[in-house]
Parts: sequence; C-alpha cells; structure tokens
Amino acid sequence: IPVEPFDLVIFGGTGDLARRKILPALYRRFRAGQMPAGSRVIGAARSARSTNDYRAFVREALVEFGSADEGGQVESAFLALVHFVQIDVTGAQGWAELAAQLQPDRVRAYYFSVRPRLFGALAERIQSHGLATPDTRIVVEKPFGNDLASAQLLNATLAAHFEENQIYRIDHYLGKETVQNLMAIRFGNMMFEPLWNSQYVDHIQITVAESVGVGGRGDYYDRAGAMRDMMQNHLMQLLCLIAMEPPAKFDPDAVRDEKLKVIRALGPVEPHHIVRGQYEGNGDLPGYRDEVGNARSFTESYIALKAHVSNWRWAGTPIYLRTGKRLVARSSVINVVFKDAPHSIFGEAAGRHANLLSIRLQPNEGITLKVTIKEPGPGGMRLVDVPLDMSFAEALGPDSQSATDAYERLIMDVIRGNQTLFMRGDEVEAAWAWTDPIISGWTAAGDVPKPYEIGSTGPGDAELLMKRDGRQWQGINP
Ligand code: BG6
Repeated sequence: IPVEPFDLVIFGGTGDLARRKILPALYRRFRAGQMPAGSRVIGAARSARSTNDYRAFVREALVEFGSADEGGQVESAFLALVHFVQIDVTGAQGWAELAAQLQPDRVRAYYFSVRPRLFGALAERIQSHGLATPDTRIVVEKPFGNDLASAQLLNATLAAHFEENQIYRIDHYLGKETVQNLMAIRFGNMMFEPLWNSQYVDHIQITVAESVGVGGRGDYYDRAGAMRDMMQNHLMQLLCLIAMEPPAKFDPDAVRDEKLKVIRALGPVEPHHIVRGQYEGNGDLPGYRDEVGNARSFTESYIALKAHVSNWRWAGTPIYLRTGKRLVARSSVINVVFKDAPHSIFGEAAGRHANLLSIRLQPNEGITLKVTIKEPGPGGMRLVDVPLDMSFAEALGPDSQSATDAYERLIMDVIRGNQTLFMRGDEVEAAWAWTDPIISGWTAAGDVPKPYEIGSTGPGDAELLMKRDGRQWQGINP
C-alpha cells in the first residue's frame, strides 16, 4: 500500500538501534519505492555534527548492516532525504531548528530511541514546542517499564501528552512475517480451529532459543534477565496469538482486545513450575557472569515455565514456555501437541503416536504436521509418525521470508497509522501484572539460577519440569 510523504524524526539518531535497525529498514523501504519524494528522515542527537557528517554515518550503517548494494553503493537520493538536528531532549537547545526542518501537512513520526526515563521529557517538549499535529505518532521501544508500577508510570506520562491511538509500542516479534502467519494459519484455515482447545490439545510448547550470548548489553541485561527481556514481551505475544479467541476483524482493537483477554486469563505460576538457568564458560567462550562483569550475578539467561490460561478453551492444557541465550541453536518454534487417539484399534503393541503441529518461526520458517501411518512392510500393523513438511522458502520462493524485516513492516505501519501489530498500554500492563509476582517470588526465595553448558538445551531441571508431567520438550533444531 503506497504511503504519502512523511517526516520521521529519530531521537537517538546516532544510537545502536538507529544504526542496526531503523536506518537500514528505512533504506530498504526507500528502495522498494515506499518512501515517496518529499519525505524526510531527521536524526536527532545530543552531540554536534553536520547533516553531511550524519549522512556519512548513515551510509556506513547501511553498508555495515546489509542494506547497501553488493558493491557497497547507497543511493544518494536516499541520503538526500536525511537531515540532522542537534538537540537537548531535556533542555531548550535544538527545538527551534527541529521545528524548521519539519514540513507542514505531513504525517509525523517521532521515534523515541532513547532511554525510557527521557520519554516524558520528550513527549512534553514535542507538545510544548507545538511540534505535534493531529497526524503525529510516537514510537517507543522496549523495555516498556521493568515492572507494573514503572509501566503504569510510563503509560501515564505518555498519556499526558498523546492519545493512545498516537502511541506505537514496539514488540518487534509482532513485525516478523511468520509471527503474523500464526494468525493466518489459525484463522485462515478451517481444519485447525475446531481442534484448537483442551479437548484435543494435550499441551503447547513455545521455544525461543538463541545461540548468541548477552554481548555488549551486559549492563541492561543483568538488570533484566530472560524473564523481563524475552518472556514478558516476545514469548507473551506468541502465547497470545496461539491462545486467543478469533477476533471478529483484523483490526487493531479487535486483535488487541482478544490478546488482552488471554493475558488476563493467565494464572499465577507455581514456583516449582519455573526453571532459571545461567550459562557457564567453557574455555572458548566466557560464561554469563564474565560476560556481564558481575561475578555474583543471580540473573537468569534462561527461563522455562509452565503457564495456564484459565478459561474454557484452555483449562487443563498447559503451555510450556522457554527461552535462553547461548543454547544449541537459534530456533523459535511453537509445538502444538495433540492428545492420543482415545482408543487404539490396533492394540498397544502397534505403538501410539500423538499428532504434532510444529510452527517454525525462525530460521527455516515453515510448518510440520506429524501424522501417524502404518510402518511399511510385512511386519503387521505397526504405527510410525511421518512429517507432512512445508518450508515457506520451498513453497513460496527463497525471498518469501527475509524480504521484509520486522522493522520495515512496523515503521511503515506507523506511517500508515495501523496499530494492529503494536502493544496497547493495557496489554503491557497486564503482562507485567502476570510477571511481577513471578519475579518477586524467586527474589524473596533467594533463588539461584542453575548452571547450564554453552551449546546445550538449557539446565537439566527444565527437562524434569516436563518429565514430571509425563511429557518432553521437542528438540531445538536450527
Ligand atoms: C530483543 C532482546 O528484544 O530480542 C534480545 O532484547 C534478543 O536479548 C532479541 O536477542 C531477539 O530477537 P530476534 O529477532 O533475533 O529473535
């Protein structure tokens, strides 16, 4: 869908997110013909530099983060749309210059790629300098608070200056093609929905495994941990899309209302249904504590837990969630494990296999449905399961998945004014309301995360969590 020319201001325009994600995403949309002439990208930051220097910075970012041509060429037509303003977010300097850069009658998007404690000051100054038009949107990144109270405060601060329909809270998982595909699979097909409940589904597993460590973000991560960094937002969103009732329409509030109901239906998690882990160094690679530079850290780099959605559809069907860093592979998969057939006409000796629907979100995006058939050969009736396998790349062509990255889609949705793939304030608060008691529970108990090996599937206790229920995790395969 074409868009009208727009102005996008990136506060934190020289920061890491701008370099890695926002600028490359904009450039790819530009090349796809979605940034009409007359649009402007205005980088704003505290330190002084000229627009020419900023363009050089942008060019480098595009070369480094994969948006330039193969020859490292960046179209000068894109760079011509880029401007720079030196600004003091909490002071007075730079605001008049920013005002001069902005164009009348344009959609305006202000991307708050700065520390959350600056959000309030930014929102207030945009208003007090008269830089907010009715067509203005603000975009905020995670972390959106670090508990319920701070998220409420952030919401209240933003709400003092902007309407909810102007606030775009990013969870980049929602921008992933395959994550949206969850909705298409569930609600575009007849065959899954009738089985999508506790009568037929034994349990669901959601795994977001990463092979990377915490890298250069030790400071932030050691205060957050896997629960706040991944579970409260990305895995929560996946859980919502898997568990929600069909919205009446694919529109922002219809979808978000249903997601909110799921979060509010989440029961408290028993302490013995939680496994926290921390990776240990192995000689080649540093362990978690060395990586974050905190020898006494009790922060988890891995978490697995068993959640319950307490409503009619899901009562009795647990949802197991796990995520961690430095695991055996990068792999995000949702496994829907169906119940056994109620009675085996072939006798127990034939074996029993439960159907399994596996939705691979990344990498190697696709779907596998395991079905039970007769083992070929004359050996009588013995059952085996075989995969009905579909890779999106094979079915739809190699470009089908990576063509649009999450940030491209989300930024264009901001410009179009479509909030479907953004978190509403009440959703974020509900997610924290579920998360807070879990964290305070282990803090009060002085819980120490279990060590696990780099390149493993996580601590052994996570296997036990399943085993106690007579279940097991599906493998983590790239
Ligand atoms: C971010 C987390 O939100 O998501 C990171 O802060 C994590 O810790 C990243 O590595 C994972 O995103 P993706 O798109 O690589 O799966």
